[in-house]
Amino acid sequence: MSKPTQPAEGAPVIEANSVSKRFGSTQALLDVDVALAPGRCLGLVGRNGAGKSTLVSILCGLQSPDAGEVRFGGDAAPPLADVRAWRSRIATVFQHSMVVPQLTVAENIFLGDLPRRRDLVNWRAMRAQTRAILREWDFDVDPGVECETLTVEQRQIVEIAAALARGTRILLLDEPTAALERDAVRRLFDRVRALVSAGVAVLYISHHLEEVFEICHDVVVLRDGEVVLSAPTPGLTEDELVGAMVGDVAPPVAAGGRARATGRRAPDGAQASERLVVSEIFAESARGSLFGASLVVRAGERVGLTGLLGAGVATLGRVIVGAHDYQSGTIEFDGRPLAPGRPDAALAAGIGYIPEDRWLEGFVGHLGCAENMTMSIASRLAGRLGLLMPSTRTRAARPLADQLSLVSRGLAQPVQELSGGNQQKVTVARAIASKPKLIVAITPTRGVDVASKELLLAALAELTGDTGASLLLASDEFGDLQICDRVIVLVRGQVFTEFTEPPYDDEALIAATEGLAAVGSQ
Ligand SMILES: Nc1ncnc2c1ncn2[C@@H]1O[C@H](COP(=O)(O)OP(=O)(O)OP(=O)(O)O)[C@@H](O)[C@H]1O
Ligand SMILES: [Mg+2]
Repeated sequence: MSKPTQPAEGAPVIEANSVSKRFGSTQALLDVDVALAPGRCLGLVGRNGAGKSTLVSILCGLQSPDAGEVRFGGDAAPPLADVRAWRSRIATVFQHSMVVPQLTVAENIFLGDLPRRRDLVNWRAMRAQTRAILREWDFDVDPGVECETLTVEQRQIVEIAAALARGTRILLLDEPTAALERDAVRRLFDRVRALVSAGVAVLYISHHLEEVFEICHDVVVLRDGEVVLSAPTPGLTEDELVGAMVGDVAPPVAAGGRARATGRRAPDGAQASERLVVSEIFAESARGSLFGASLVVRAGERVGLTGLLGAGVATLGRVIVGAHDYQSGTIEFDGRPLAPGRPDAALAAGIGYIPEDRWLEGFVGHLGCAENMTMSIASRLAGRLGLLMPSTRTRAARPLADQLSLVSRGLAQPVQELSGGNQQKVTVARAIASKPKLIVAITPTRGVDVASKELLLAALAELTGDTGASLLLASDEFGDLQICDRVIVLVRGQVFTEFTEPPYDDEALIAATEGLAAVGSQ
């Protein structure tokens, strides 16, 4: 495989010069200058829709800018059609995994560039080279297994290894930790540090500002498509960074104020009726099985649910909303049994669902924002003849879009055109539009910027405050759990302990998720 020549020490290996990009009436990027140097990690931050992923797609040759240019080590970039030339220079780990699930690790690593002997693919050489790359970087993955059996972390490793195998010295990581658990994040950081000290240039996008401070030497802030700050990270504070992201206006806070549990009187445990009663659920799942999980959510209560990746947190949420079947146990909602594995029954009973994987379950990409947001209430909105005018949908969707500060060109814009975080807001809006009696939210703030996170949590909290709806909030972001009246910790598919007094202490929560003595739990 060709190895691009190493540029002079410190000189940028890639630059975007005065890059602009427009989609219809959306100015996604305006006059953006960014440069990556070998052996340095540059953080790229900004609110949802600020233009981060658009910049990544231009830097890696997926789209051309309307104006401005990309240069590699001072040379003009190859034409967009020369995919091979781009792939040998720069590699990207996208917000959504790009590995081909049906192919093996080795095949994915050499995809598009299989080693050949005469005209035949040299499978043996491919496996040997894969093993060598994985060993060199201390990556723990089996070259022969199909990628669909891999965890998110392992798929990322495959994507990074594929880049290294091509001799790429520039790596773009677009929200790589969004779907990783705590320990996997640590390991990713170790890998990134090793790459950077070996002279690779890294661009790192994240909504977790503490990560940016931890591994990025420099940071660039995009706001509405423009660079508003570019500086070394050590001299910056988190407040300065957030200030640059949101601009002069104060970070928006929803009408109901900050959605913290502190100060709110939790519904009286003994008095409030039991809305959801989950008993002894056994369910198999590659993402974490359940071995006799039980819990109760009362009317008006906000219950948090957390645990390590394989602990079964998402599985339990999915079982309750009927998105995943189970082998034994019972679920009752308002005193009536819920049919297992029937999402329609759960929805009809009054359960709203914010899924973990918004691409699979959260929205229909080619349909508009309003259409997606009002999907669960379409029959309610329709007139007597069953006709539903687009304007009716828009009127119903508008307040939710405003409440969550959705950034779109209009409510008719297809959701697939929105930025990652704004797609998540559409998913949340869809779930709350029907004013459900219980919302089951699985990692609802994933990929959502710091200021929008507050809005989103406030919207969920408001629902429970005003209408007496209940919330089951499954999240590994401890900050999110602070809005809950109680937090239940799952370990290996069972309830390990419960915390009942907010504010919850991060260290006690971490210890509990690891199955350690429940320090601080009540
Ligand atoms: N193909 C497209 N068609 C129309 N508009 C688009 C398209 N791609 C991006 N946009 C718009 O460009 C703007 C910037 O989007 P981008 O995905 O770059 O944001 P982002 O900073 O990555 O946000 P997030 O943090 O939510 O991932 C958004 O308003 C988005 O709706
Ligand atoms: Mg993005």
